[in-house]
Amino acid sequence: MPRGFFITFEGLDGSGKTTQLRRLATALEAQGHSVVTLRQPGGTPLGDRIRSILLDSKSEAALGPIAPLAELALMFADRAQAIAQIIEPALAAGSIVLCDRYTDSSEAYQGGGRQLGSEPVLALHQAVCSNLQPDLTLLLLPALKSSLRRARNRNQRHIQAEGTDENRFERESDDFYRRIYEKYEEIAAREPHRVVAFRDDATIEQIHAQIKNTVTARLVPAHAL
Ligand code: TYD
Repeated sequence: MPRGFFITFEGLDGSGKTTQLRRLATALEAQGHSVVTLRQPGGTPLGDRIRSILLDSKSEAALGPIAPLAELALMFADRAQAIAQIIEPALAAGSIVLCDRYTDSSEAYQGGGRQLGSEPVLALHQAVCSNLQPDLTLLLLPALKSSLRRARNRNQRHIQAEGTDENRFERESDDFYRRIYEKYEEIAAREPHRVVAFRDDATIEQIHAQIKNTVTARLVPAHAL
């Protein structure tokens, strides 16, 4: 059984990566591939608990301010569980794993946004995730100006929407998102083979087509579309 293929999706809030992940999963399944999808934080029972602590805007009222390093450590606790329970077994079974956010998010949001720097993130990745790297990372990163506008719009929608309280991150400022954006740029420049960035402000359909082409070109022959 050939090992599967591990693909992560990255980008700012509102970048459309969740839509693109679903579209790609459907396309790959239609080609007969076994596809496993998950999101971080979350995806496992433990991870879903961690997610509700991390993302619930009421958490800080109940728990007090969450220290940036505590936030980082919780992201990695979630990730370690997802690797053990979902990602590694799926890869061992030969599936294509599509993961909505992974360690690049920790580096961009906690390393960049919260200004912890890349070092603690990469050290934790080594220690807690056995340095498990995606085979391919699809980074949705339209120009900074439109990325900020999308993140802000989503922020407003979440605040207005009733019944959703997953907006602790989305209340952050433009500066926070600018730092995240710059860290994503840095990661893409550092790892050009793994990270493929989609910078056009194109339609969902156009980006989907570009993503499919990229994935087709990268999948090992055993998984060829
Ligand atoms: P989610 O609602 O899944 O947002 P999105 O659809 O944009 O992925 O919320 C995930 C939030 O958690 C998002 O704001 C990014 C943040 N996050 C981190 O700060 N660090 C991490 O390591 C991960 C995985 C997510």
